[in-house]
Amino acid sequence: MEDTIVIKCGGSVLSELSPSFFESLQAMYAQGKNVVIVHGGGPEIGQMLKRLNVSSEFVNGLRKTTKEVLEVAEMILAGKVNKQLVGLLQQYGMPAVGVSGVDAHLLEAAPIDLTKLGYVGEVVKVNSNFLKALLRSRYIPVISPIGTDENGQKYNINADTAAGAVAKAVKAAQLLFVTDVPGILQNGSVVEHATVEAIEQMIEKGIITGGMIPKVKAAAAALSEELDEVMIVSGKTPFYANGQLYGTSIRKEVGVY
Ligand SMILES: Nc1ncnc2c1ncn2[C@@H]1O[C@H](COP(=O)(O)OP(=O)(O)OP(=O)(O)O)[C@@H](O)[C@H]1O
Ligand SMILES: [Mg+2]
Repeated sequence: MEDTIVIKCGGSVLSELSPSFFESLQAMYAQGKNVVIVHGGGPEIGQMLKRLNVSSEFVNGLRKTTKEVLEVAEMILAGKVNKQLVGLLQQYGMPAVGVSGVDAHLLEAAPIDLTKLGYVGEVVKVNSNFLKALLRSRYIPVISPIGTDENGQKYNINADTAAGAVAKAVKAAQLLFVTDVPGILQNGSVVEHATVEAIEQMIEKGIITGGMIPKVKAAAAALSEELDEVMIVSGKTPFYANGQLYGTSIRKEVGVY
């Protein structure tokens, strides 16, 4: 869909999103852009699991999801975090509508590796018609990354993966990952431009680790004819000034900047 921007808000930064972040969104929306938000909730899920004494582990930046972890993840993502974010957007005058990937079969999922990861899903289909209907009515969909398969089994989907799939499905012109770091960091400084190949090398060399792995992978997978650049920016500091975004820009190849 023309003029659509998909913004993934990291759970790592949700409580610290600055007024300038919401004002930038307001400005984009007022310009007529279609805005779709996908959110994470890593730290909040972690805290609740701790409170409930449920142990969990990470494999390549993905949270291994048992039945119990899945229940908590859905509760925190689709309940607490989603409604918090919707409330904030509404305070800034934006018509936000919270849905999880379960609603209207928005995110159809399949397990990545049941033995290794449990109920961690990848997105196999996005109900883009549902999203487009919301966007045409000028709503701002706020999506929790929980999906279902054809049997109704639910899956915990990494929010970056979900955002990438949503961007692809609605043929978004922009995809933005808002996180707690100002981009890909190497030796303490931000890598301003990265290609898909460079990303793979940074993963191999151990420069990119943990939660940055699914993020850059989702970015690389989302690149297409409609979407030639994906940005990773910080939600803690203003990332938009003078018509320019500040962070890491990811493109397929060099020479197209
Ligand atoms: N090379 C790197 N540059 C920057 N951050 C990196 C790098 N390698 C690993 N990271 C880690 O990736 C983290 C960001 O991913 P993380 O999954 O924690 O946050 P998020 O995706 O914004 O939140 P959520 O997963 O809750 O949606 C950074 O805080 C940092 O610790
Ligand atoms: Mg993450």
